This record gives sequence, structure tokens and C-alpha cells, in this order.
Amino acid sequence: MSQLDQKKEAAKAALDYILEGMTIGIGTGSTVNCLIDMLPTVRNKIGALVSSSSETTDRLQKLGFEVSLLNSVGTADLYIDGADEATKHFHLIKGGGGALTREKILAAASRKFVCIIDESKFVAMLGKFPLPIEVIPMAQSYISRQLIKMRGQPIWREGFITDNGNHILDVHNLAISNPLEMEDRINQMAGVVSVGIFARRPADVLLIGTPTGIKTMGS
Ligand code: 5RP
Repeated sequence: MSQLDQKKEAAKAALDYILEGMTIGIGTGSTVNCLIDMLPTVRNKIGALVSSSSETTDRLQKLGFEVSLLNSVGTADLYIDGADEATKHFHLIKGGGGALTREKILAAASRKFVCIIDESKFVAMLGKFPLPIEVIPMAQSYISRQLIKMRGQPIWREGFITDNGNHILDVHNLAISNPLEMEDRINQMAGVVSVGIFARRPADVLLIGTPTGIKTMGS
């Protein structure tokens, strides 16, 4: 089964978590795009949708869905999103698509976080995928120097501006053996908007598309 087919399988499995009248947060990325394409099949069940990015909002609106503001709905029953890496502890790296801050807000404001990935994303330890960090532009050099002190190699995602008007640093060569500690440490740096480690608010469910079918972890 191709990687794309594994993503589709994971997206399809996520549809089972959508119950009558739910308010659902929708993440960002190619796996989530597979989910968005399938959402019309459960249109009648959806109470409201909240989006994590302008890209996702555009896709949802093109399919005729109304997109609500988080401030209007308060909380979401369910959040469905992809990830760049995930561990058996449900810790994630996210932000490959640069939407990590809004994704983190939606994950925090949701009762259940279902993460949909293909098998290649399931890892023993986070950090092979360069860790995305959204930063206030004027703090970029300062934060880069702090990350170098932590033995990371920050690379500015040149030309990319987040939906919040900020920059992204992709930090290479971090072995993230303690995701909780690393998330807190980076979060505390002045000028960091958010870090792509999702450990304080991990996924509740991992749906992993594999060549032999869906693997489900968590509930
Ligand atoms: C976007 C994300 C995505 O969930 C992550 O990058 C995975 O994307 P894809 O499904 O395209 O592999 O965090 O900010």
C-alpha cells in the first residue's frame, strides 16, 4: 500500500469518531486533506467545524462547509489532525505545514484528539524530523542562538509567513528524549509563539495507516 493510501486509510478510520452533532476541529496537511475530501459523506452528522489554518478553511469552504470561529463555539468535541512524528506515548512533532500554533490551540480546546498518520511517522524517539518553532520575527536570531546552545541546528524557513504573521525555525539534530521537558524549555524562550512538540497535550488516539491495515492506539 502506498504512503498516500495509508494516509487515506487513517483518514477513513477517523470518520468513525465523528458522532451526531459534534463540533470538530480540523487540522492541516496532506493527511487531513484526505479526511476533508471524505467529510461530505458524514455532512449530516457534523454540528460545527473549526479550522486550524487558512489552507484548511479554503478547502472546507470549497466543499460547502461553514467554518466557525473557536471563540464562537468555545470547545470542540473532537480534533482530527496529522503529525510529522508520533511515539507510543502519543507525543507528537507537528508543524511541517507551519500551522502548529493554531493546531496547538485546537488540540488544547478539544475533548478528544485523534491523530491520523501513515506508518512512516511512527517513531521510537522524536527529533529526526526537524522541529518547527513559530517565532516572532524580531526574536528569530536570539532564539536561534539559544537553540544552538541546546546543540540544535535551526534553519529559517525562508519566505514562509504563518497565518499569524510570524516566522518558522526548523531545528535539526535535536534528540528529544524528554518531550515534556523540551516543550517547556523552548516555550519559555522570549519570542517563541509555539513549539511543534505536542507532549503537554498529546494525542488521545493514534490511527496509523500501515501496509496491512489500520493500527489503532489509545481511546
Ligand atoms: C501541519 C502539520 C501536519 O499535521 C503535519 O505536517 C503532517 O502533514 P502531512 O499530513 O502532510 O504529512 O503539523 O502544520
